This record gives sequence, structure tokens and C-alpha cells, in this order.
Amino acid sequence: MIIKKIKKYKNMSIQKRKAYELEIIDLAYGGKGLAKPDGFPVFIDRCVPGDLVFAKITKKKKSWAEGKLIKILKESSIRNPGKCHYCDYCGGCKWQRIDYDRQLEYKKRHVAESLAHIGKLKDTPVQAVVPSDAIYEYRNKMEFSCSSKRWLMPDELEDETIIKDFGIGLHVPGTFDKVIDIKRCEIMPDLGNLILEDVREFIKHSGLAAYDLKTHQGFWRFLMLRHAVATDTWMVNIVTRNKNMDAVDTLARQLAGKYSQIKSVMNNITDARSGVSVGKEEICLYGSDHIQEKLGPYVFNISANSFFQTNTKACEKLYAKVSDYAALTGEEIVMDLYSGTGTIPIWLSGQAKKIYGIEIVSSAVADAKMNAGLNNIDNCEFLEGDIKDVLPGLKQIPDIMIIDPPRVGMHKDVVAQVIALCPEKIVYVSCNPATLARDLEMLDSTYKVMEVTPVDMFPHTYHIESVALLLKK
Ligand SMILES: C[S@@+](CC[C@H](N)C(=O)[O-])C[C@H]1O[C@@H](n2cnc3c(N)ncnc32)[C@H](O)[C@@H]1O
Repeated sequence: MIIKKIKKYKNMSIQKRKAYELEIIDLAYGGKGLAKPDGFPVFIDRCVPGDLVFAKITKKKKSWAEGKLIKILKESSIRNPGKCHYCDYCGGCKWQRIDYDRQLEYKKRHVAESLAHIGKLKDTPVQAVVPSDAIYEYRNKMEFSCSSKRWLMPDELEDETIIKDFGIGLHVPGTFDKVIDIKRCEIMPDLGNLILEDVREFIKHSGLAAYDLKTHQGFWRFLMLRHAVATDTWMVNIVTRNKNMDAVDTLARQLAGKYSQIKSVMNNITDARSGVSVGKEEICLYGSDHIQEKLGPYVFNISANSFFQTNTKACEKLYAKVSDYAALTGEEIVMDLYSGTGTIPIWLSGQAKKIYGIEIVSSAVADAKMNAGLNNIDNCEFLEGDIKDVLPGLKQIPDIMIIDPPRVGMHKDVVAQVIALCPEKIVYVSCNPATLARDLEMLDSTYKVMEVTPVDMFPHTYHIESVALLLKK
């Protein structure tokens, strides 16, 4: 009875649309700060544990609420100045205000807590997070949106000289059609900022409008920049709504003439209403249609729309952990489920007898075959299709399986098929601690999770990659 009364009081004490002074005591998975007035969880974005904040309640449920930060009343002692001018507004790096060592601690804890609470695997050892060597300028791919509506930063609100009908940059969360006009992005290698500035100036004076996500009019849609670390070369991919060779050719010539590092300028053309940058038509405006990157000793051709891990150096650390857990002798049959563009099979090719990769996206399978050929690798075979349809038809029983599913994790039929095939060892790579924990629990009847090592590919975000080693019981 007493408990009921207290619960009721707790629910009543926080009210929607009212603002409160709240102390942030922790970070929740998803990156938000957590306050617990009277034990009632309130999640607030862009806060650091130790901050005292004034926040307005925007959503109220039975057992939790969400608030919007209005003001920081007292800054936490672990607040970091952050490098980026936009980091309190942009959707990109919400954890930039938290010291990197603390980010790693929180990421490790989120993995361990997900395993314990979602997967009921509380005794699984979770190693220290393998950090990213670079915490700025680490992203090898950035996509900036062009918009006919510019979101104004607080210091721009009073400036009458600012053009409001064009911006090129990143979205503010919650405003799908407006972008912050980003002048510098700190997580992209610096030359990208110079290219971004040149493209901005060109578009401003082009006489062609930026795309409007509400009316679906306008020409300029996205600027995608890709950087290959190994060769220090760049691809510029200009995404437009329709074809206008005069406009894009002039821009391509200007950029290629100015920056010798640009080896490819592409034009993807799409009038699709969804915000995708993959063109219905693709034209190479300058140089090659790909740039070349390396992972360890292996070379990869990356075209405008191929999937490639976005932090090249951290990807090498991730795959090194995969090799370490796989501990191959050269004699094994390996099966890599969800093999993308074949990077893991190619990485492991020198360590195993034969590797099969299974992947649903046809262009990724084509890239995988091409990349294997490029490296003169003949012990990798790539199969196209949905894993749950391909696995039952396989004659080979693998010694080891590598499983690297998308964020949603494995389909439960695939889990059953893996258990039926019953390889001695599984190395599970995951970009989502919640689905990792769920899937490991489903595999728990047959496999013991020996340990998990998180690898940080995305500094200043709450995202974390993990590698788990599972042995047949
Ligand atoms: C996280 S990525 C892994 C990529 C690769 N291992 C890497 O490190 O670059 C997941 C991949 O699974 C593929 N995929 C998603 N659902 C699938 C399915 N049902 N069957 C086969 N592949 C699928 C996606 O297209 C994507 O390439």
C-alpha cells in the first residue's frame, strides 16, 4: 500500500511542459543524460553526468520522461570544451562534451549492462574498449545535405546579412528539412572542409536552387565526400535531382584543378522523394569511378555507393580482434554471414583454407568478388541471397562462423540454422549491444560466450562495435 502511494507520488511530481532543475547522474544507452528526481527516470539529450540543468519535460510516460535542455546551471567537472562549434546542436557528435576516456568507460558499461540485463549474461567478461587512435578527422565518408531552408545557430539569429534559403551541412535532430550551414566538420579529414567550402560557394552562385524536402523542387541534393587513408585520395560525389551537365562539369573541373588529392568526381542523379543519395543514374565527371583504400595489406576499390566501414584505422583494429578470436591455422572452412563487400573474408583469406561470404545486396557481392580478384585471392567464394534462404542449401559444415549482422541483429530462423550447423566456434561482430545481447542469449543453449571486446569506431557518439567469442559447449 505504502509502495503504491510513493509510486503515485513519483509519477505525479514530474509534469509535461513544466521545467525543472535536475541533476544529471548518469548516461543512458542512446547517449542521453539521466536524471532521477524522486527516483523517476528523466532522459535529457546533450548533458554530461554531474551537470545541474534546467530542462523542460517534453514527453511523460508511466515509468519515464524525456526533457529538453534549456540551460546548464552548473557545468559538470568532467565537461570537455569539445572542438566543434556546432556540437550542441548538430545531430552528429553528441558526446563531444565528454572526455574521450570517459566515453570509453560509458561504452564498455553499456555493453556489459546490455549483456547482463537483456541477454542475462552477467558473468561474461567484457574487456576494456579498444580505442580509436584518431578521435578527430577519423571519418572516411561524410554526407552533407543541401537544403533550401537553413537552420540558424544562436549567433546567426540577429545577422540580417545571412542568406536563409540555402544551407549545406548536417541536420538538427527533429528538423528533417533544415540544415545547419556547417563550415567545419571536425571528424572529417581537414581537406574535406576546404572542398565543402568551395562547393558551398559554387552552389550559392550557380543560379540553381538547393533541393526542398517539402516541395521536392530544386537541383542540389547532397555532397558526399570519401577519403581513402592509404592513398590520401578523395572522391567527391555530387548528388542532384536531375541532369545538368553544364553545372556539375564546371564544378568538377574547378575542384579537380584545385586539389590534386581529388581522383574522382561523380554525379549521382535521383528524383526519389526519400532522402537517399544513391542515384538512378551515375556519371563519372572526372578521373576514376572509385578510389583505392587498404586494410592491412589488402587493397579495396571503393565506389560512390559501396559500403565501407567509416573509420579505416579502427576497422583494422576491429578485424584484428576478429582474427585474434578466430585463431585460424590455415586449415579451416570459414563462413562469414552478412559479408558486405567481402572485407572480412579478404582480411582472413591468408589464415584459412576456404572462406564463404553470404550477403543479400547484389552490388556488395559484386564488389566483394572484384576486391578478391584485385588481391589475387582465390579461396574466397561469395554467395548472394538472404542468409535464411542460403544457409539451408549449403553442403559445407564450417569449422568457424563469423557473424556481422546489421543493427537489427539476426533473424531467429538464422539463429536456429546456425545452431543446426553447429560450428565449433563463432565470432560475432555487432554494432548494437542490445541485439548482440539478445542474439547471444538465443545461442546460449549451444554456445558459451567466452568474452566480448568492444571496439570504438565512432568517437563522440554513443555507438560502439563489439566482438564476441563463442565456443561450442
Ligand atoms: C554490418 S554490415 C556487415 C558488413 C561487413 N561485414 C563489413 O565489415 O564491412 C551487415 C551486412 O548484412 C547485409 N544483410 C542484411 N540483411 C541480410 C540478410 N537477411 N541476408 C544477407 N545479408 C544481409 C547488409 O546488406 C550488410 O552488408
